[in-house]
Amino acid sequence: MHSFGYRANALLTFAVTILAFMCAIASLSDNLNSPSPSAEIQILNVNWFQKQPHGNDEVSLTLNITADLQSLFTWNTKQLFIFVAAEYETPKNSMNQVSLWDAIIPAKEHAQFWIQTSNKYRFVDQGHNLRGKEFNLTLHWHVMPKTGKMFADKLSCPATD
Ligand SMILES: *[C@@H]1O[C@H](CO)[C@@H](O)[C@H](O)[C@H]1NC(C)=O
Ligand SMILES: *[C@@H]1O[C@H](CO)[C@@H](O)[C@H](O)[C@H]1NC(C)=O
Repeated sequence: MHSFGYRANALLTFAVTILAFMCAIASLSDNLNSPSPSAEIQILNVNWFQKQPHGNDEVSLTLNITADLQSLFTWNTKQLFIFVAAEYETPKNSMNQVSLWDAIIPAKEHAQFWIQTSNKYRFVDQGHNLRGKEFNLTLHWHVMPKTGKMFADKLSCPATD
């Protein structure tokens, strides 16, 4: 005869097994979804440009960010973390990445949007390389699933100041 504790434990083990199985299906079916997000980032205005006293360049931009990230949402998606980064090359670094703006998208209904905004984070170069610089504005996203692994990707939009 099994004690209550033993049966409760067996039941719990069973429940955990079921749960683990469902999670595996969730992340598997997630992989079958091939998303087709789109984004466009325009620079509407260069608000100001300054050389800081110690020599670093800083620029303030107004951006028009348009995106449709709805296809990144599946029933297993908890939320998206997105950020816009300016990426450019300098003699010192082959890849400089400065985050300008970010947001959390909590639901599919909010995944198609456009926003006009100035950079939320300071766009400062480690030196004075920004004037006339070609850079890419890249929209990065991190998909946070309810279960399974997080994944990240990005879209690049060429720009120039
Ligand atoms: C910003 O983007 C939206 C959507 O693409 C567009 O309708 C709007 O005209 C843009 N604004 C400016 C000032 O270009
Ligand atoms: C911008 O992106 C394109 C395509 O990914 C790449 O070839 C180019 O080197 C990038 N430009 C800069 C300035 O990083």
